[in-house]
Amino acid sequence: MAFVKVAELDEIGVGEGAFIERDGVSLALFNAGNGHFYACSPVCPHEDGPLAEGWLEGNAVVCPWHGYDFDLTSGACRVTPDFSVKVYPVRVSGTAVEVDLA
Ligand code: FES
Repeated sequence: MAFVKVAELDEIGVGEGAFIERDGVSLALFNAGNGHFYACSPVCPHEDGPLAEGWLEGNAVVCPWHGYDFDLTSGACRVTPDFSVKVYPVRVSGTAVEVDLA
């Protein structure tokens, strides 16, 4: 476990995502509301769409380019088993959003 701070709690609006780079790792971070955040690899495996610009549907992010969606708890694509994204554990510590980049 190597949690590092990637954002302040109020930096990302509810329902929004942000592209983050920390310690050589790029990720898409999403605020699902109620202190709940998700993080995943930022590039859609379909045709390299920007997942941080996608939107949340429940616990999934929808890619803005062609609509493939990914479960942010497992990384599985809900359209086809051929694709998946890496997901990262996220925790809130005080006012910091921390991601385990390991
Ligand atoms: S690039 Fe993401 S669905 Fe096509």
